[in-house]
Amino acid sequence: MTYVVTDNCIACKYTDCVEVCPVDCFYEGENMLVIHPDECIDCGVCEPECPADAIRPDTEPDMDAWVEFNRQYALVWPVIITRKDPLPEATERDGETGKREKYFSEAPGQGG
Ligand code: SF4
Ligand code: F3S
Repeated sequence: MTYVVTDNCIACKYTDCVEVCPVDCFYEGENMLVIHPDECIDCGVCEPECPADAIRPDTEPDMDAWVEFNRQYALVWPVIITRKDPLPEATERDGETGKREKYFSEAPGQGG
């Protein structure tokens, strides 16, 4: 089992999650984070920290695609262990549907 970051992180990227992860398994894209599914120890402490409710356990329905999505980008984006300011449009975009199609960027973030 693992936890994964899902659609509502995109264009928000609050980063509260990285402060609590005991194994530093969050990776940063330009406008979202992902979790490395093989590094996550399933502790669950990050899930309630996300203001956008974007972190889900893979035991929920239809999470297989998100697990592979998180793995794909965790392998190429830099690790992030320090909280940063949310993206400027975070409040406006929080809760929008279809964010992956509308806003997702494959570009890496800065990490750190
Ligand atoms: Fe890190 Fe625990 Fe969240 Fe996994 S569930 S990403 S180990 S805080
Ligand atoms: Fe994204 Fe929530 Fe973390 S919006 S950056 S998963 S706190």
